[in-house]
Formats: sequence, C-alpha cells, structure tokens
Amino acid sequence: MPAYAVIGGQWGDEGKGKVIDYLSERVTVVARFSGGNNAGHTVLNEKGEFKFHLMPSGAVWPQVTPVIGNGVVVDPDVLIQEIEDLRSRGLDVSKLQISDRAHIIMPYHVALDQLEEKGRGNSALGTTGRGVGPAYVDKVARTGIRFGDMLDAEGLRNRIEQVLPHVNAVITKVHGGEAFDVQDIFDRCLNWRDQLLPFIAPVEERVRDALSKGENVLLEGAQGTLLDLDHGTYPYVTSSSSSVGGACAGLGIGPRSVAGVFGIFKAYNTRVGSGPMPTELDDEVGEAIRQKAGEFGTTTGRPRRCGWFDGVAARYGVIVNDLTSGILTRLDILDGMKTVKVCIGYEIDGKPVEGFPAQINALEKCKPVYRDFEGWTLPTAGLTNWDDVPRQAKKYVQGLEEIIGCPLDVISTGPNRHETISRKTLIP
Ligand code: IMP
Repeated sequence: MPAYAVIGGQWGDEGKGKVIDYLSERVTVVARFSGGNNAGHTVLNEKGEFKFHLMPSGAVWPQVTPVIGNGVVVDPDVLIQEIEDLRSRGLDVSKLQISDRAHIIMPYHVALDQLEEKGRGNSALGTTGRGVGPAYVDKVARTGIRFGDMLDAEGLRNRIEQVLPHVNAVITKVHGGEAFDVQDIFDRCLNWRDQLLPFIAPVEERVRDALSKGENVLLEGAQGTLLDLDHGTYPYVTSSSSSVGGACAGLGIGPRSVAGVFGIFKAYNTRVGSGPMPTELDDEVGEAIRQKAGEFGTTTGRPRRCGWFDGVAARYGVIVNDLTSGILTRLDILDGMKTVKVCIGYEIDGKPVEGFPAQINALEKCKPVYRDFEGWTLPTAGLTNWDDVPRQAKKYVQGLEEIIGCPLDVISTGPNRHETISRKTLIP
C-alpha cells in the first residue's frame, strides 16, 4: 500500500515544503494530517514561490488532490485567504478536500491562545498564537466544532449555544478578556460554510480509495518530532502528534498502508519559541547561520534560534518514527565554514547521558559533546549530482548517517525544486 510519510526530524522548519513539492511528482494525493496554520511550508518552483499554512504543499502539481485530514485544526479565514491567493495566481484549487471531521479553529481559540500565553508570563511556551493549542484542547474535551457540523444549521447553533458559555467563563473570569457572542460565531460559521462547502468531504474515503487503487499518497507532516505532543520536549511542544503515528490517526488509514517514512533533517538545528536546545549557538556563528539561511519564521517572522546539528536528538527522531530514509536539507548553508560541528552525545555535570532525556529539567542541563568535521570551500549550493559534492561535505553527510543511524537518500542544496541530489528513488 503506497503511502509515504514526510516527517520533520527536528523542531520543525526543516524544509518539508520543498521536499513535499519535490516528491509530489509521482503522487495523486498529498494529505496534511496534523497541526494547523502554525505551520509555514515554503515551495519554490517554475510557478513561483508559495508559502502554505494549511494548503498541502503538493497543491501546485496538476494531478494532485490536496487533502486536509481530520487530524488538522483549520482556521477557515486563513484557508479562504490561501485559496483566494492561489486562485489569483492562476492555480486551480478546485480539487482541494477538507475532512468533515476536521476541527475548526474558532476566533475564541485564537483569543485564548494569546491570553494563556500572556498569563504564563516568564514560562510562556512561545506559541505561534494561532489558536492551535486551544482548538486541540476543545477536541480532546469533546467540546470542539467540526467542519461537518456546519452542514446542519440548527444543530450548529445548538452546539455553539452549548459550548460558548464555558469558553466565555474562562475568557472573562480567568483571563479578564472579552466574551464572544453566539450569533456572531453562528453567522461567521454560515459564511465559512457558504465559501468552503464545495471542499468539505469525507476525505478519509478518498485517501483509502487512492491507496486501494495502488496510487501513491504523500502524508505531509507539519512541525517536527521534537515538537510532538508525546515524544517532543514537553511541555515546549505543539498540541498534536507531529511524528509518524499522527499520520494514521489524522487521516483514518492503517499503519500497513505506510510503505516509507522519510525524516527531514536540516544540516544544522533551529528552534522557534521556548524550551531547551542543547546545541544552540548564542554567538556570531549562530547569527551567521541565521542571516545566511534567513532563519526567520514563515508564520510569525520571529528569529529562529540556530545551532549545530544535534545528532542525539536526530537519532531519537529516527527511532521514534522508524524512518526508512532521511532527507538532508540546506547543506549549502554550511558552505565556506572552516569547521562544522555535530553533537554526538550529551553530558550532565561531566557524566555521559543515555539517549534523549524525557524530563525537561534534565534536557536543560545537557551539555553537548561535539565531533568536528573539516569544512569545505567549494560550494554545494545548487548541486544536483552526488559525484560533484566536495569530498569534505560528503564526509559530513556520511558522518551524519553514521551518527543518526539512517541513510540520507536525498540532499537538498537550495530552495528550488530542482536543487536536489537524489541518491535513491524514494517513490517508485
Ligand atoms: P503552537 O503550535 O502555536 O501551539 O506553538 C507551540 C510551539 O511549537 C512553539 O514553540 C512554536 O514556536 C512551535 N511551532 C509550532 N509550529 C511550528 C512550526 O511550523 N515550525 C516551528 N515551530 C513551530
């Protein structure tokens, strides 16, 4: 059964958008399964540059049906805007499908996200402020509203009347915020329904149908393994399952459908928001990487924290997702560096640490142990052939493979679709 998952191997922002666009040539469905518009996936090809937040990154390929699965939380205003932008650029988005089981990010979720962050003071998580966490809280509390609910106006109104008093009590009494009005939320929902009706569908059936016909389906991860609600650096995580387990739950498919799990790793590390990052470089090297790579959030514009490749965290990502292949991105950013470092272990108080700690307090104390690699002067930027990669850069890639325990079968050397080295065909 030919489903292939693309999973962020680090703290997100690994370049999944580019990789998904590159891999979409041979697939008929590209399906998002987790997260919301906290994601920002950049795609650059002959049709121009696109920054997707909800639209699956394979959407520019004409044969692709872009699917938003039940595991995604969707802010309808953001999606409508994205559809309009794509249409205005001449792209046909008529095939888009949104699961009728997907939960809606309501305006009160966005308000709550921002109020909760303010209330956390110095312990703020650094969320994207898009309402993603509170929308998942409502989903789990069974007080969420789903796209399918908008198809029955009377039921929808009853549902809003049922859930809003509690939401308003929390907003006003706990946070001192402004209450939301039932009629206003209801009217917004009707407006969203009118605009999005053609796209709302039981998409899980479409995905299963494609799989049963033997068509290739790409499962598009958002965020990364270290932001996964269970397996990430809790509590500094997002509120969904961004590792491969989320793909099955977020699309209604079984694990036997998944033929390949591809982990995306940047050639160095970045993180946005709060939480420990053992290899963070709070110096001119980190700043140089940030400037050269333009490491500023696609969604929020925040400067990303930069550091050396963390081999311990990456190896953990390989294991959690049982990766079949790794994909290395942004190798070109390291071009011209004299020495490139990779973290191969952690120490606390001079004593080696086993694996990747679950406790945030322990991870905060971890000091990286580095292995130095000789840098390369000849550029890798734009290369498309492994044989042309400078000897030292090859050694770096091979060293990473050994450290993380996974082959790096595809290497990205630039933002454009064609700036890619394929060492193995991942989707036959
Ligand atoms: P939330 O997902 O907006 O609740 O934010 C929780 C944490 O995940 C914060 O540290 C965010 O910066 C981080 N985060 C969420 N989405 C992304 C992403 O797409 N890339 C990188 N970090 C993200």
